Amino acid sequence: MRTKLVALAAIVAATALVLAEPPPGVHGVVFDDLNANGVREAGEPGLPDVVVSDQDEVVRTGRDGRYTLDAAGGYGLVSVSVPADRRVVGRWWQPVGDGQAPIDFALAAAPASDTFTFIHASDPHLGPDVVGRLARVGEIARARKAAFVIISGDLVRDAMGATEADASALFQLYLKTIATFPVPVRSALGNHDLFGIDRDASGVGPDHPLYGKWMYRHFLGPDYYSFDFGKLHFVGLDAVDIVDRSYYGHVGAGQLAWLERDLATVAPGTPVVTFGHIPLLTGALSAWGYREGMGQGDTLVVVNGKTVFRHVVDDTPDVMTRMALVDWPLALGGHTHAREVLTFVSAGQPTRFEQAASIVEPFPNDPIPMRSGVTLYSVRGRVIEQGEFIPLDGKSGRLTTFARGYGGPPKLQRRRKPAPTGDEL
Ligand SMILES: [Fe+2]
Repeated sequence: MRTKLVALAAIVAATALVLAEPPPGVHGVVFDDLNANGVREAGEPGLPDVVVSDQDEVVRTGRDGRYTLDAAGGYGLVSVSVPADRRVVGRWWQPVGDGQAPIDFALAAAPASDTFTFIHASDPHLGPDVVGRLARVGEIARARKAAFVIISGDLVRDAMGATEADASALFQLYLKTIATFPVPVRSALGNHDLFGIDRDASGVGPDHPLYGKWMYRHFLGPDYYSFDFGKLHFVGLDAVDIVDRSYYGHVGAGQLAWLERDLATVAPGTPVVTFGHIPLLTGALSAWGYREGMGQGDTLVVVNGKTVFRHVVDDTPDVMTRMALVDWPLALGGHTHAREVLTFVSAGQPTRFEQAASIVEPFPNDPIPMRSGVTLYSVRGRVIEQGEFIPLDGKSGRLTTFARGYGGPPKLQRRRKPAPTGDEL
């Protein structure tokens, strides 16, 4: 009898231990938030087959909606790749914290339409004087019934040479402004969003906890991630890297490995749209001309003894190798402040490489005339139509801002039919 009691006690103790111990690694559940209040309540089931990632591992939830990640290879963040027929309630990413508490994601049902529009905007370089221009993008999204807005980097005026207080204030201003948008905003990291790397001006060093990309991650979450919408799969890329006190276009081995894992979750035949800041391909370098020197705006930078173009991603061929495994009709970028449309055929498939113009006004000393604006894309099933450029300045398409400082570009001013402007929306 005593032996049986001891055995029973051992089983009870072991059960208690199992119940008390959280599963190894970061864990949680993705659930069907039926009443969209962000809290899991009785009767709200887990959602199976939803992709969750820590920017290293990419896993799917089980039949009960649960997932587990070890989170050792990422940057302390966990995110859900929001499926096409869902919208997230609350945030789509969470910090890992101490790794003990479960990290759950609430997804509510969202009407799945294969026909929709979205806006690609870029480079707000946000400061107090640009808030109105950025808010205008939200107004355009409302007027044109866009499902969401992508803003591909240089979100803030400059975090590179700012103090922590000033850079944080700019990021908070960005969050506050996009919170006024009627639709979700998906962001990417730009070179101006790198905190403190201009160390003489910022007064901080690499040991600062928010240095470089960490401030972006603190405020905006993962610097690369994915989501689905309609019949498309979207991948936000971090196309900027740091070399000493400067930056250059780079994706890197860790992100490429993650990209492979993310793409492996995509159903065959699904078109994939990538977006990031520094272009994967651009004609801007030839348009700007070669700029001697090693300053932030100049053409070249030396990375590990190798000289590379700063303003285009230096490992684009590695990205293309991965993207050759899927349908890749559209690659969106920013950085050039000019709307660009290039088509490049790699591995037998044509991909449109399109940069958005800037949200911020054109700089008066730009080597070629620029114009601010956003691009509206219409999607029908798996087809992404040609983008529509919507200028942010001027009425009736007159190039008021554009002309300032250049004496006016006569050819463009002679256009017969003015493009619609933000003013007219
Ligand atoms: Fe920019």
